[in-house]
Amino acid sequence: MKRIAVLISGRGSNLQAIVNAIESGLIDGEIVVVLSNHEDAAGLSYASQRSLTTVVLDHRTYSSREAFDAELLRRVESFRPDLVVLAGFMRILTREFVAHYTNRLLNIHPSLLPAFPGLHTHRRALQAGVKLHGCTVHFVTTEVDVGPILIQAAVPVLPKDDESQLASRVLRVEHRIYPQAISWFCEDRLVIKDGLVRVSGEHAEQVLFIHH
Ligand code: GRF
Repeated sequence: MKRIAVLISGRGSNLQAIVNAIESGLIDGEIVVVLSNHEDAAGLSYASQRSLTTVVLDHRTYSSREAFDAELLRRVESFRPDLVVLAGFMRILTREFVAHYTNRLLNIHPSLLPAFPGLHTHRRALQAGVKLHGCTVHFVTTEVDVGPILIQAAVPVLPKDDESQLASRVLRVEHRIYPQAISWFCEDRLVIKDGLVRVSGEHAEQVLFIHH
């Protein structure tokens, strides 16, 4: 069974989806630590309620990104994770941290990458007038929001959408594709070659398309 570290900064709804998927048997893994850089993250209270091990590491108490990430690496590594999952962890990680977890570090980004990397993706999607939007699970590389794409989910942008309606439509599919991606990782089914990810074994849908 794979050992999973989950890094969060806030609400933790993806963390909850992952916990549910472990409980339902979709993910053959265990969460060995939930680490947050904000002590008041709602996801931390949830993790404590579920009796998960939690760690708070406040980045504001470190003199530099390098110093924070060195300690982050030390703390995460002390739990000997097979996989590190970024679930709304709002920090850009150093090259050293990313390199340590090459092909073992996942992120979920709320857009159909390579469209809209960075912040405020839903607002920017509305401004751009795109009719399809969604989310992407990818392996993390040193360039932000660029690593090998593992699975994507697409949802329509509806004429009357505001930012929060669009965000919640995307979030619902985030909660489906992140556990799916993690389950493939835990089953050793992910093959990365030339920056592309294939899922080995029985047929696996690397796209989820939601009509409304
Ligand atoms: C999600 O929208 C995710 O795509 C982004 O940060 C948000 C985290 O939400 N990376 P939550 O904390 O999992 O509820």
